[in-house]
Amino acid sequence: MPGFEFFGKEEIKEVNDVLETGILMRYGFDGPRKGIWKARELEDAVCQNFGCKHAQLVSSGTAALTTAMCALGIGYGDEVILPSFTFVASFEAVLSVGAIPVFVDVDDTLTLNPDAVRNAVTKKTKCIMPVHMCGSMADMDALQAICKEHHLVLLEDACQSIGGTYKGKKLGTIGDAGTFSFDFVKTITCAEGGVVMTNREDVYIASDGYTDHGHDHKGVDRGADLHPFIGYNFRISELHAAVGLAQIKKLDTFLSIQKKNHAALKCMLSTIPEISFRRIPDETGDSCTFLSWFLPTEEVTRAVVAEMKAKGILAGNFYWYDNNWHYICKWDHLKNSVTLNGLHPDLKAAVMHHASKDFSASDAVMSCCVSTAISLLWTDEQLKTKGEQMLTVIKKILNEQKISI
Ligand SMILES: Cc1ncc(COP(=O)(O)O)c(C=O)c1O
Repeated sequence: MPGFEFFGKEEIKEVNDVLETGILMRYGFDGPRKGIWKARELEDAVCQNFGCKHAQLVSSGTAALTTAMCALGIGYGDEVILPSFTFVASFEAVLSVGAIPVFVDVDDTLTLNPDAVRNAVTKKTKCIMPVHMCGSMADMDALQAICKEHHLVLLEDACQSIGGTYKGKKLGTIGDAGTFSFDFVKTITCAEGGVVMTNREDVYIASDGYTDHGHDHKGVDRGADLHPFIGYNFRISELHAAVGLAQIKKLDTFLSIQKKNHAALKCMLSTIPEISFRRIPDETGDSCTFLSWFLPTEEVTRAVVAEMKAKGILAGNFYWYDNNWHYICKWDHLKNSVTLNGLHPDLKAAVMHHASKDFSASDAVMSCCVSTAISLLWTDEQLKTKGEQMLTVIKKILNEQKISI
Protein backbone atom coordinates (compact mmCIF):
# COMPACT_ATOMS: atom_id res chain seq x y z
CA MET A 1 0.00 0.00 0.00
CA PRO A 2 2.03 2.69 -1.51
CA GLY A 3 1.60 6.33 -0.41
CA PHE A 4 5.30 6.46 0.33
CA GLU A 5 6.08 5.57 -3.28
CA PHE A 6 4.90 8.99 -4.46
CA PHE A 7 6.54 11.23 -1.97
CA GLY A 8 7.84 14.59 -3.06
CA LYS A 9 7.85 18.35 -3.09
CA GLU A 10 4.15 18.60 -2.16
CA GLU A 11 4.75 16.91 1.21
CA ILE A 12 7.86 19.05 1.79
CA LYS A 13 5.89 22.22 1.12
CA GLU A 14 3.10 21.32 3.55
CA VAL A 15 5.61 20.35 6.28
CA ASN A 16 7.59 23.55 5.70
CA ASP A 17 4.43 25.62 6.23
CA VAL A 18 4.33 24.16 9.75
CA LEU A 19 8.06 24.46 10.40
CA GLU A 20 7.98 28.12 9.42
CA THR A 21 5.44 28.88 12.15
CA GLY A 22 7.16 26.58 14.66
CA ILE A 23 3.75 25.48 16.00
CA LEU A 24 3.88 21.71 15.85
CA MET A 25 0.79 21.08 17.99
CA ARG A 26 -2.68 20.91 16.51
CA TYR A 27 -4.44 22.79 19.33
CA GLY A 28 -3.99 26.31 20.67
CA PHE A 29 -1.30 28.91 19.88
CA ASP A 30 -3.84 30.69 17.69
CA GLY A 31 -1.72 33.81 17.14
CA PRO A 32 1.75 32.40 16.42
CA ARG A 33 0.42 29.74 14.06
CA LYS A 34 -0.54 32.45 11.56
CA GLY A 35 -3.59 30.66 10.24
CA ILE A 36 -1.81 27.32 9.67
CA TRP A 37 -4.09 24.50 10.90
CA LYS A 38 -2.97 21.36 9.05
CA ALA A 39 -4.86 18.84 11.19
CA ARG A 40 -8.10 20.77 10.80
CA GLU A 41 -7.51 21.10 7.07
CA LEU A 42 -6.88 17.37 6.73
CA GLU A 43 -10.02 16.56 8.74
CA ASP A 44 -12.04 18.73 6.35
CA ALA A 45 -10.38 17.02 3.39
CA VAL A 46 -11.23 13.58 4.83
CA CYS A 47 -14.89 14.60 5.17
CA GLN A 48 -14.90 15.97 1.62
CA ASN A 49 -13.12 13.01 0.04
CA PHE A 50 -14.92 10.21 1.84
CA GLY A 51 -18.32 11.78 2.31
CA CYS A 52 -18.65 11.60 6.08
CA LYS A 53 -19.94 14.30 8.40
CA HIS A 54 -17.09 14.16 10.91
CA ALA A 55 -13.44 13.15 11.02
CA GLN A 56 -11.15 13.03 14.05
CA LEU A 57 -7.46 12.65 13.30
CA VAL A 58 -5.42 10.61 15.75
CA SER A 59 -1.86 9.37 16.16
CA SER A 60 -2.36 5.93 14.52
CA GLY A 61 -4.89 3.50 13.10
CA THR A 62 -4.70 1.54 16.35
CA ALA A 63 -5.52 4.71 18.31
CA ALA A 64 -8.40 5.34 15.89
CA LEU A 65 -9.91 1.92 16.63
CA THR A 66 -9.50 2.36 20.39
CA THR A 67 -10.99 5.84 20.23
CA ALA A 68 -13.93 4.68 18.12
CA MET A 69 -14.65 1.86 20.54
CA CYS A 70 -14.66 4.22 23.51
CA ALA A 71 -16.80 6.73 21.65
CA LEU A 72 -19.27 3.97 20.76
CA GLY A 73 -19.50 2.98 24.43
CA ILE A 74 -17.85 -0.43 24.04
CA GLY A 75 -16.17 -1.68 27.20
CA TYR A 76 -16.07 -4.13 30.07
CA GLY A 77 -17.87 -7.40 29.36
CA ASP A 78 -18.89 -6.48 25.80
CA GLU A 79 -18.14 -8.87 22.97
CA VAL A 80 -16.80 -7.54 19.69
CA ILE A 81 -17.01 -9.84 16.67
CA LEU A 82 -14.03 -9.59 14.33
CA PRO A 83 -12.39 -11.74 11.66
CA SER A 84 -9.63 -14.33 12.09
CA PHE A 85 -7.70 -12.58 9.30
CA THR A 86 -6.80 -9.00 10.22
CA PHE A 87 -3.87 -7.12 11.74
CA VAL A 88 -3.09 -7.56 15.45
CA ALA A 89 -4.13 -3.93 16.07
CA SER A 90 -7.80 -4.87 15.63
CA PHE A 91 -7.87 -7.10 18.70
CA GLU A 92 -5.38 -4.93 20.61
CA ALA A 93 -7.94 -2.13 20.41
CA VAL A 94 -10.74 -4.41 21.65
CA LEU A 95 -8.62 -5.46 24.63
CA SER A 96 -7.58 -1.88 25.35
CA VAL A 97 -11.18 -0.99 26.22
CA GLY A 98 -11.67 -4.13 28.33
CA ALA A 99 -13.93 -5.84 25.79
CA ILE A 100 -13.74 -9.43 24.56
CA PRO A 101 -12.53 -10.13 21.01
CA VAL A 102 -14.71 -12.87 19.48
CA PHE A 103 -13.03 -14.16 16.33
CA VAL A 104 -15.04 -15.71 13.54
CA ASP A 105 -14.15 -17.28 10.22
CA VAL A 106 -13.44 -15.46 7.01
CA ASP A 107 -14.69 -16.68 3.63
CA ASP A 108 -13.40 -16.22 0.09
CA THR A 109 -13.91 -12.45 0.43
CA LEU A 110 -11.02 -12.63 2.96
CA THR A 111 -13.33 -10.80 5.35
CA LEU A 112 -16.08 -11.74 7.82
CA ASN A 113 -18.32 -14.61 6.78
CA PRO A 114 -21.82 -13.25 7.60
CA ASP A 115 -23.13 -16.73 8.55
CA ALA A 116 -20.27 -17.18 11.00
CA VAL A 117 -21.02 -13.74 12.43
CA ARG A 118 -24.68 -14.58 12.89
CA ASN A 119 -23.75 -17.78 14.74
CA ALA A 120 -21.40 -15.88 17.05
CA VAL A 121 -23.92 -13.29 18.27
CA THR A 122 -24.74 -13.66 21.98
CA LYS A 123 -26.44 -11.50 24.58
CA LYS A 124 -23.05 -9.93 25.29
CA THR A 125 -22.34 -8.93 21.68
CA LYS A 126 -22.11 -5.17 21.33
CA CYS A 127 -20.27 -4.61 18.10
CA ILE A 128 -19.45 -6.17 14.76
CA MET A 129 -16.11 -5.04 13.40
CA PRO A 130 -15.54 -5.98 9.76
CA VAL A 131 -11.97 -5.49 8.61
CA HIS A 132 -11.79 -4.54 4.94
CA MET A 133 -8.52 -6.35 4.38
CA CYS A 134 -6.10 -5.84 1.51
CA GLY A 135 -8.02 -3.08 -0.19
CA SER A 136 -11.40 -4.74 -0.56
CA MET A 137 -14.60 -5.01 1.41
CA ALA A 138 -16.76 -7.21 3.58
CA ASP A 139 -20.38 -7.94 2.63
CA MET A 140 -21.75 -4.82 4.25
CA ASP A 141 -25.44 -5.42 3.42
CA ALA A 142 -25.37 -8.74 5.25
CA LEU A 143 -23.49 -7.32 8.23
CA GLN A 144 -25.72 -4.24 8.47
CA ALA A 145 -28.76 -6.53 8.49
CA ILE A 146 -27.34 -8.53 11.42
CA CYS A 147 -26.54 -5.31 13.31
CA LYS A 148 -30.06 -4.02 12.74
CA GLU A 149 -31.66 -7.26 13.82
CA HIS A 150 -29.63 -7.48 17.05
CA HIS A 151 -29.21 -3.73 17.76
CA LEU A 152 -25.44 -3.89 17.41
CA VAL A 153 -22.90 -1.23 16.65
CA LEU A 154 -21.02 -1.48 13.33
CA LEU A 155 -17.40 -0.34 13.41
CA GLU A 156 -15.42 -0.64 10.16
CA ASP A 157 -11.70 -1.23 10.34
CA ALA A 158 -10.97 0.25 6.94
CA CYS A 159 -7.29 0.86 7.73
CA GLN A 160 -6.20 -1.13 4.67
CA SER A 161 -8.83 0.04 2.22
CA ILE A 162 -8.59 3.81 1.87
CA GLY A 163 -10.52 4.83 -1.24
CA GLY A 164 -12.46 1.57 -1.57
CA THR A 165 -16.25 1.76 -1.91
CA TYR A 166 -19.29 -0.44 -1.37
CA LYS A 167 -22.38 0.30 -3.48
CA GLY A 168 -21.21 3.87 -3.95
CA LYS A 169 -20.31 4.59 -0.33
CA LYS A 170 -16.73 4.96 0.82
CA LEU A 171 -15.49 2.15 3.05
CA GLY A 172 -15.16 3.42 6.60
CA THR A 173 -18.23 5.68 6.34
CA ILE A 174 -20.97 3.05 6.23
CA GLY A 175 -21.11 1.90 9.86
CA ASP A 176 -21.58 3.87 13.09
CA ALA A 177 -17.88 4.68 12.78
CA GLY A 178 -14.93 3.69 10.63
CA THR A 179 -11.18 4.05 10.79
CA PHE A 180 -8.21 4.52 8.49
CA SER A 181 -4.53 4.11 9.26
CA PHE A 182 -2.08 6.57 7.74
CA ASP A 183 1.01 4.64 8.82
CA PHE A 184 3.97 4.43 6.48
CA VAL A 185 2.70 1.51 4.40
CA LYS A 186 -0.88 2.62 3.83
CA THR A 187 -2.49 3.95 0.64
CA ILE A 188 -1.88 7.46 1.89
CA THR A 189 0.54 8.09 4.73
CA CYS A 190 1.25 10.69 7.42
CA ALA A 191 4.28 8.59 8.55
CA GLU A 192 2.12 7.72 11.57
CA GLY A 193 -1.50 8.69 11.94
CA GLY A 194 -5.08 7.60 11.67
CA VAL A 195 -8.63 8.89 11.59
CA VAL A 196 -12.03 8.11 13.04
CA MET A 197 -14.85 8.86 10.60
CA THR A 198 -18.48 9.00 11.61
CA ASN A 199 -21.82 10.53 10.70
CA ARG A 200 -22.88 10.50 14.35
CA GLU A 201 -22.28 13.76 16.18
CA ASP A 202 -22.16 12.03 19.59
CA VAL A 203 -19.40 9.70 18.38
CA TYR A 204 -17.46 12.63 16.95
CA ILE A 205 -17.70 14.76 20.10
CA ALA A 206 -16.60 11.82 22.23
CA SER A 207 -13.70 11.05 19.84
CA ASP A 208 -12.59 14.67 19.80
CA GLY A 209 -12.43 14.84 23.59
CA TYR A 210 -11.10 11.33 24.20
CA THR A 211 -8.04 11.83 22.01
CA ASP A 212 -7.03 14.97 23.94
CA HIS A 213 -7.30 13.99 27.63
CA GLY A 214 -11.05 14.54 27.69
CA HIS A 215 -10.83 18.30 26.88
CA ASP A 216 -14.22 19.60 25.82
CA HIS A 217 -12.67 22.03 23.29
CA LYS A 218 -15.48 24.49 23.84
CA GLY A 219 -13.59 27.69 24.39
CA VAL A 220 -10.52 29.38 22.94
CA ASP A 221 -8.58 29.06 26.20
CA ARG A 222 -7.26 25.51 26.34
CA GLY A 223 -6.38 25.90 30.02
CA ALA A 224 -10.03 26.60 30.82
CA ASP A 225 -11.39 23.50 29.03
CA LEU A 226 -13.62 21.25 31.12
CA HIS A 227 -13.26 17.47 31.17
CA PRO A 228 -16.65 15.78 30.93
CA PHE A 229 -14.92 12.37 30.89
CA ILE A 230 -11.46 10.85 31.23
CA GLY A 231 -9.48 10.70 28.02
CA TYR A 232 -6.05 9.91 26.65
CA ASN A 233 -3.50 11.53 24.41
CA PHE A 234 -3.90 10.17 20.91
CA ARG A 235 -3.26 13.54 19.22
CA ILE A 236 -1.72 13.81 15.79
CA SER A 237 0.97 16.46 15.31
CA GLU A 238 0.78 19.25 12.76
CA LEU A 239 3.86 17.81 11.02
CA HIS A 240 2.19 14.46 10.47
CA ALA A 241 -1.08 16.05 9.39
CA ALA A 242 0.84 18.22 6.91
CA VAL A 243 2.25 15.12 5.20
CA GLY A 244 -1.25 13.61 5.03
CA LEU A 245 -2.64 16.77 3.51
CA ALA A 246 -0.25 16.50 0.57
CA GLN A 247 -0.98 12.79 0.25
CA ILE A 248 -4.77 13.04 0.24
CA LYS A 249 -4.57 15.35 -2.75
CA LYS A 250 -2.84 12.53 -4.64
CA LEU A 251 -5.28 9.79 -3.63
CA ASP A 252 -7.24 9.73 -6.89
CA THR A 253 -3.99 9.34 -8.84
CA PHE A 254 -2.85 6.52 -6.54
CA LEU A 255 -6.16 4.71 -6.96
CA SER A 256 -6.25 4.98 -10.73
CA ILE A 257 -2.70 3.62 -11.06
CA GLN A 258 -3.50 0.82 -8.62
CA LYS A 259 -6.59 -0.15 -10.59
CA LYS A 260 -4.73 -0.15 -13.90
CA ASN A 261 -1.83 -2.27 -12.59
CA HIS A 262 -4.19 -4.60 -10.73
CA ALA A 263 -6.26 -5.21 -13.86
CA ALA A 264 -3.18 -5.93 -15.96
CA LEU A 265 -1.76 -8.45 -13.46
CA LYS A 266 -5.15 -10.10 -12.98
CA CYS A 267 -5.48 -10.48 -16.72
CA MET A 268 -2.14 -12.32 -16.86
CA LEU A 269 -2.89 -14.65 -13.93
CA SER A 270 -6.37 -15.38 -15.35
CA THR A 271 -4.71 -17.33 -18.15
CA ILE A 272 -4.16 -20.18 -15.67
CA PRO A 273 -7.53 -21.87 -15.11
CA GLU A 274 -6.45 -23.35 -11.74
CA ILE A 275 -6.13 -19.85 -10.30
CA SER A 276 -9.22 -18.27 -8.82
CA PHE A 277 -9.55 -14.83 -7.33
CA ARG A 278 -10.85 -13.30 -4.14
CA ARG A 279 -14.60 -12.69 -4.21
CA ILE A 280 -15.31 -8.98 -4.09
CA PRO A 281 -18.83 -8.10 -2.87
CA ASP A 282 -18.78 -4.96 -5.07
CA GLU A 283 -16.14 -5.34 -7.83
CA THR A 284 -16.16 -1.66 -8.74
CA GLY A 285 -15.33 -0.71 -5.17
CA ASP A 286 -12.04 -2.61 -4.87
CA SER A 287 -9.28 -0.11 -4.08
CA CYS A 288 -6.89 -2.59 -5.71
CA THR A 289 -3.99 -2.30 -3.29
CA PHE A 290 -3.54 -6.07 -3.57
CA LEU A 291 -4.46 -8.78 -6.04
CA SER A 292 -5.46 -11.79 -3.93
CA TRP A 293 -5.54 -15.15 -5.68
CA PHE A 294 -6.09 -18.77 -4.76
CA LEU A 295 -4.48 -22.03 -5.85
CA PRO A 296 -6.33 -25.35 -5.68
CA THR A 297 -4.67 -26.79 -2.54
CA GLU A 298 -2.45 -25.81 0.39
CA GLU A 299 0.25 -28.15 -0.95
CA VAL A 300 0.35 -26.41 -4.33
CA THR A 301 0.22 -22.96 -2.71
CA ARG A 302 3.11 -23.74 -0.37
CA ALA A 303 5.13 -25.16 -3.26
CA VAL A 304 4.48 -22.04 -5.38
CA VAL A 305 5.47 -19.75 -2.50
CA ALA A 306 8.66 -21.79 -1.93
CA GLU A 307 9.53 -21.68 -5.63
CA MET A 308 8.91 -17.93 -5.81
CA LYS A 309 11.30 -17.55 -2.88
CA ALA A 310 13.89 -19.75 -4.57
CA LYS A 311 13.61 -17.71 -7.77
CA GLY A 312 13.92 -14.42 -5.83
CA ILE A 313 10.45 -13.16 -6.81
CA LEU A 314 8.60 -13.62 -3.53
CA ALA A 315 8.96 -9.97 -2.45
CA GLY A 316 5.58 -8.27 -2.60
CA ASN A 317 3.71 -11.61 -2.51
CA PHE A 318 2.17 -12.42 0.86
CA TYR A 319 1.25 -15.88 2.11
CA TRP A 320 -0.82 -14.66 5.05
CA TYR A 321 -1.44 -18.16 6.39
CA ASP A 322 2.12 -18.21 7.75
CA ASN A 323 2.22 -14.53 8.66
CA ASN A 324 2.84 -13.60 12.31
CA TRP A 325 0.90 -10.34 12.20
CA HIS A 326 -2.16 -11.06 10.18
CA TYR A 327 -3.58 -14.52 10.75
CA ILE A 328 -4.82 -16.13 13.93
CA CYS A 329 -2.69 -19.30 13.47
CA LYS A 330 0.41 -17.51 14.69
CA TRP A 331 -1.05 -15.38 17.48
CA ASP A 332 0.29 -17.41 20.40
CA HIS A 333 0.52 -14.31 22.60
CA LEU A 334 -3.24 -13.89 22.16
CA LYS A 335 -4.07 -17.56 22.54
CA ASN A 336 -2.15 -17.54 25.84
CA SER A 337 -3.49 -14.09 26.73
CA VAL A 338 -0.03 -12.73 27.51
CA THR A 339 -0.38 -9.08 28.54
CA LEU A 340 1.92 -6.80 30.51
CA ASN A 341 -0.98 -5.37 32.48
CA GLY A 342 -3.02 -7.73 34.59
CA LEU A 343 -6.34 -8.78 33.04
CA HIS A 344 -9.39 -9.74 35.05
CA PRO A 345 -9.34 -13.57 35.18
CA ASP A 346 -12.74 -13.75 33.43
CA LEU A 347 -11.51 -11.60 30.55
CA LYS A 348 -8.28 -13.59 30.32
CA ALA A 349 -10.21 -16.85 30.13
CA ALA A 350 -12.63 -15.45 27.53
CA VAL A 351 -9.76 -14.17 25.36
CA MET A 352 -8.04 -17.56 25.44
CA HIS A 353 -11.27 -19.37 24.69
CA HIS A 354 -12.23 -17.26 21.68
CA ALA A 355 -8.71 -17.23 20.20
CA SER A 356 -8.36 -21.01 20.43
CA LYS A 357 -11.57 -22.09 18.70
CA ASP A 358 -11.73 -24.12 15.50
CA PHE A 359 -10.85 -21.93 12.52
CA SER A 360 -10.62 -24.70 9.95
CA ALA A 361 -12.99 -22.86 7.59
CA SER A 362 -10.62 -19.87 7.64
CA ASP A 363 -7.61 -22.17 7.33
CA ALA A 364 -9.11 -23.69 4.17
CA VAL A 365 -9.30 -20.22 2.59
CA MET A 366 -6.08 -18.70 3.90
CA SER A 367 -3.86 -21.72 3.23
CA CYS A 368 -4.55 -21.42 -0.51
CA CYS A 369 -4.31 -17.64 -0.78
CA VAL A 370 -1.51 -15.38 -1.96
CA SER A 371 -1.87 -11.59 -2.07
CA THR A 372 0.31 -9.64 -4.47
CA ALA A 373 0.91 -6.02 -3.48
CA ILE A 374 0.26 -3.60 -6.32
CA SER A 375 2.99 -1.01 -6.79
CA LEU A 376 2.46 2.49 -8.17
CA LEU A 377 5.96 2.55 -9.56
CA TRP A 378 5.87 -0.44 -11.91
CA THR A 379 6.52 0.40 -15.53
CA ASP A 380 4.50 -1.59 -18.08
CA GLU A 381 7.65 -3.58 -18.79
CA GLN A 382 8.28 -4.37 -15.11
CA LEU A 383 4.68 -5.40 -14.62
CA LYS A 384 4.85 -7.71 -17.63
CA THR A 385 8.09 -9.26 -16.39
CA LYS A 386 6.67 -9.74 -12.90
CA GLY A 387 3.53 -11.41 -14.26
CA GLU A 388 5.52 -13.67 -16.58
CA GLN A 389 7.86 -14.76 -13.79
CA MET A 390 4.89 -15.58 -11.59
CA LEU A 391 3.20 -17.53 -14.39
CA THR A 392 6.35 -19.56 -15.02
CA VAL A 393 6.62 -20.56 -11.37
CA ILE A 394 2.93 -21.40 -11.00
CA LYS A 395 2.82 -23.47 -14.20
CA LYS A 396 5.97 -25.35 -13.18
CA ILE A 397 4.50 -26.33 -9.80
CA LEU A 398 1.10 -27.24 -11.20
CA ASN A 399 2.88 -29.42 -13.74
CA GLU A 400 5.09 -31.07 -11.13
CA GLN A 401 2.12 -31.73 -8.90
CA LYS A 402 0.35 -33.28 -11.90
CA ILE A 403 -2.45 -30.76 -11.83
CA SER A 404 -3.55 -30.16 -15.41
CA ILE A 405 -2.90 -26.79 -17.00
C1 LIG B 1 -6.38 -3.82 9.37
C2 LIG B 1 -5.55 -2.88 10.20
N1 LIG B 1 -6.10 -2.32 11.28
C3 LIG B 1 -5.40 -1.46 12.05
C4 LIG B 1 -4.09 -1.13 11.76
C5 LIG B 1 -3.33 -0.23 12.68
O1 LIG B 1 -2.86 0.92 12.06
P1 LIG B 1 -1.55 1.65 12.65
O2 LIG B 1 -0.34 0.94 12.16
O3 LIG B 1 -1.67 3.03 12.06
O4 LIG B 1 -1.69 1.68 14.12
C6 LIG B 1 -3.48 -1.70 10.63
C7 LIG B 1 -2.08 -1.39 10.29
O5 LIG B 1 -1.42 -2.11 9.60
C8 LIG B 1 -4.23 -2.60 9.83
O6 LIG B 1 -3.69 -3.18 8.76
